[in-house]
Amino acid sequence: MPKSYRVAILGATGAVGTELLQLLDSRQFPLGDLKLLASARSAGKTLEFQGSKLKVEAVTEDSFKDVDLLLASAGGSTSKQWIPLAVSSGAVAIDNSSAFRMDPEVPLVVPEVNPEAAATHKGIIANPNCTTILMAVAVWPLHKLQPIRRLIAATYQSASGAGARAMEEVLTQTKAILQGETPKTEAFPYPLAFNLFPHNSPLNDRGYCQEEMKMVNETRKIFGESELRISATCVRVPVLRAHSEAINLEFNEPFSVSKAREILRDAPGVRLVEDWQANYFPMPIDATGRDEVLVGRIRQDISQSCGLELWLSGDQIRKGAALNAVQIAELLVEKDLLKPAASLAMT
Ligand code: A2P
Repeated sequence: MPKSYRVAILGATGAVGTELLQLLDSRQFPLGDLKLLASARSAGKTLEFQGSKLKVEAVTEDSFKDVDLLLASAGGSTSKQWIPLAVSSGAVAIDNSSAFRMDPEVPLVVPEVNPEAAATHKGIIANPNCTTILMAVAVWPLHKLQPIRRLIAATYQSASGAGARAMEEVLTQTKAILQGETPKTEAFPYPLAFNLFPHNSPLNDRGYCQEEMKMVNETRKIFGESELRISATCVRVPVLRAHSEAINLEFNEPFSVSKAREILRDAPGVRLVEDWQANYFPMPIDATGRDEVLVGRIRQDISQSCGLELWLSGDQIRKGAALNAVQIAELLVEKDLLKPAASLAMT
C-alpha cells in the first residue's frame, strides 16, 4: 500500500499557506489527512481543497498529536512557540520563518542546491528566505562549475513578501492615490504604491537591514561556505507578487557568457529568458505563478574581466516559499525520512 502522511499547515489562511494548499493538491502529495491551522481569528473559516471545504482550526497544544508533517508559515514568533511542541509530538516541521534558519542543528535547504542536508534533520528543516532561494537556484550551477569570489545583489521585492495584508495594501493605496486621496499605511511603514523604499527590516550597526543579512548568511549556510563574500541591497517595489534581483558575480577566472547560458539553460529550477532583439528579459508578471526562477540578461561585466551580470525574477510565494517547502517535503518522502500514517496505525 502506498504510504500517506498526515499533514498540517500552520498559517493556512496566509499568502504562503493558501499556496501550500494548492501545491499539495497539484503535486499530488501523498496525503493521509490535512489539517489547517491559523490564529483564533480564523477559527471556523473554511478553505477549499480538492472540491471540499476544510475548516480552519485555531492552533492549540493538541493540534500536533496526529501530525507527521507540519508546514509552517505563520511568522517567526508563532514558529518558535509551536514548532518545538509539534516536533516533540512526533512531527517533522518544515518552517518558512527565519526562527530556526541559522541554528546549526537545523538544515537550511534548497532542493536544487543542497538536498543532502535534509537527511541530517532532527525534526526541523528551515526553508530559506525568499530572495535567498531565488538567488541560490540561479547562482549555484555557475558556482559549482567555477567558484565565485564575490557576489553583489540588488533586489526588487514585491509586496507578497510581507504577506496577504501587504498585497491588499498596495491595491488599496493605488486606488486611493488614483482617486486623489492620501493612501493609508498599515502593513508597510510608507506608501508602496507609486513608490519604493529600502527594505524596512531592522538595521544592524553597519547599516545593513535584516533582509540583506539573510541573503549573506543564509547563502553561506546553503552553499556550505562560511566565508563567501556577499553584499546585498534590498528594496521593496510596488509589484504585487514575484521578486526580481540584479546579481553581479566575480569569479577567480573569466567565465564566458556563452558557457553561463549553456549551464543555466539546463539548470534545475531555472528557465533562461532572453530575447536580445526584443529587449525581453525576466519580469515579475511572467514569473508569477511559475515554478522556475526566470534568469536572463547575462552579460560580461565591463568593469572587470572575471565578472558576470545576471537578472532574475521568481515567484516569491511559490519557489521563494511554498514550492520550496513542498519540494523539501517530497524529498523527505522520497528518502523515507517522514513517519507514514499507515505504519503508525499498525504499531
Ligand atoms: P490568521 O489569518 O488567523 O491571522 P501572511 O503571511 O499572509 O500575513 O499570513 C500569516 C499566516 O499566519 C496567517 O494564516 C495567520 O493566521 C497566521 N498567523 C499569524 N499569527 C498567528 C498566531 N499567533 N497563531 C497562529 N497563526 C498565526
